[in-house]
Amino acid sequence: MSTAVPMWVHPSCFPAQVAEQLRQGLRHRLVDPKFHYATYAQARSWRRVHEQYAPSHQDAATKDFYEQAYRAVLPGLREHEFQLLGLGCGLGQKEARFLEIVTPVAEAVSYLPVDMSVPLVIDAYLAGHPWSESSRPIVCDLSNTCDLPEVIATTSLHDCQRVATLFGVLPQLDPVAIFTSLQALLRPQDQVLCSVNLVPPGAPRQRLEAILAQYDNSLTNEWLLLFLRDLGIEAEAGHIEWVIDEVAAQEAYRLVAWFHFDREVQLEAAGETFHFRFGEKLQLFFSHRYTPEGLTNILSQLRAGRTDRQNGFGAPLLLENSWRTASGEEGLYHLRSHA
Ligand SMILES: C[S@@+](CC[C@H](N)C(=O)[O-])C[C@H]1O[C@@H](n2cnc3c(N)ncnc32)[C@H](O)[C@@H]1O
Repeated sequence: MSTAVPMWVHPSCFPAQVAEQLRQGLRHRLVDPKFHYATYAQARSWRRVHEQYAPSHQDAATKDFYEQAYRAVLPGLREHEFQLLGLGCGLGQKEARFLEIVTPVAEAVSYLPVDMSVPLVIDAYLAGHPWSESSRPIVCDLSNTCDLPEVIATTSLHDCQRVATLFGVLPQLDPVAIFTSLQALLRPQDQVLCSVNLVPPGAPRQRLEAILAQYDNSLTNEWLLLFLRDLGIEAEAGHIEWVIDEVAAQEAYRLVAWFHFDREVQLEAAGETFHFRFGEKLQLFFSHRYTPEGLTNILSQLRAGRTDRQNGFGAPLLLENSWRTASGEEGLYHLRSHA
């Protein structure tokens, strides 16, 4: 029997759509972080960064804290069958561990790893495969998808209770937009586990300066430079500068990598010519960190149905429980969809 894996590809990841996003990004000098995971070389390079710097990979206490959250979901599983949606799953290691824990409790689990990156979503599928007989990877740009409920309904073999995971994606995706699509997708009693990079309590700038070392290092910069190299821009054409920006409206901060051009560059990408002048800069990457208060505000707006984007609102998501690592750098939120 063939070991080939069927995969769904959403139109948001068709080449013409991706090319348009790339053109828009280069015109506005803003690279969406999703472009850093797309190729096999980028996925391999990000894996090295993740293994070296992600607290969930490095730190036993952080691993334990994820285990607690996985177990908190179990009592809420009402049916013997359920579906796990791994949104922005990356390598899918966290979802695979959750599946391992839940499999003795559930009779049947279907698993839908969802990510924009083809190599990563395949890895996530393979990591979860031992615990789920019905699993299907979905390649989808979560920031450009209005029809997530239809996508999931079409790709699902069964209609059953759902658990959605959002691990490591809030640093890069708009939380209001992603929670709004989740609310449209989930039904009463469905559950969500979501990780958030936090601003530790105390002097935020000082604490963030210390966290910046997880980002401003040669391994991460090499990973980010792969995107430019694919466009034909040599690393020597400029230099990377990391800065910390405050996003006051969201009570958040952003760690941003800027590529400063030290010489003039002209390139062809997605059918268009782009010129970068000496001294110009391109936003190469960003990662949001929320204060616990900022995140609580976002969640309470959802509870009250008071977001700017009312379309697609389904069952409200209510906070069941939350955990914070001892360092205060990472939070996990367990939400449940209510009627
Ligand atoms: C920081 S990694 C986290 C991966 C994994 N969930 C974890 O916790 O280790 C972010 C993931 O989100 C994916 N991603 C980023 N933007 C995306 C988008 N717009 N649509 C779908 N996936 C996206 C990336 O491809 C990557 O796998």
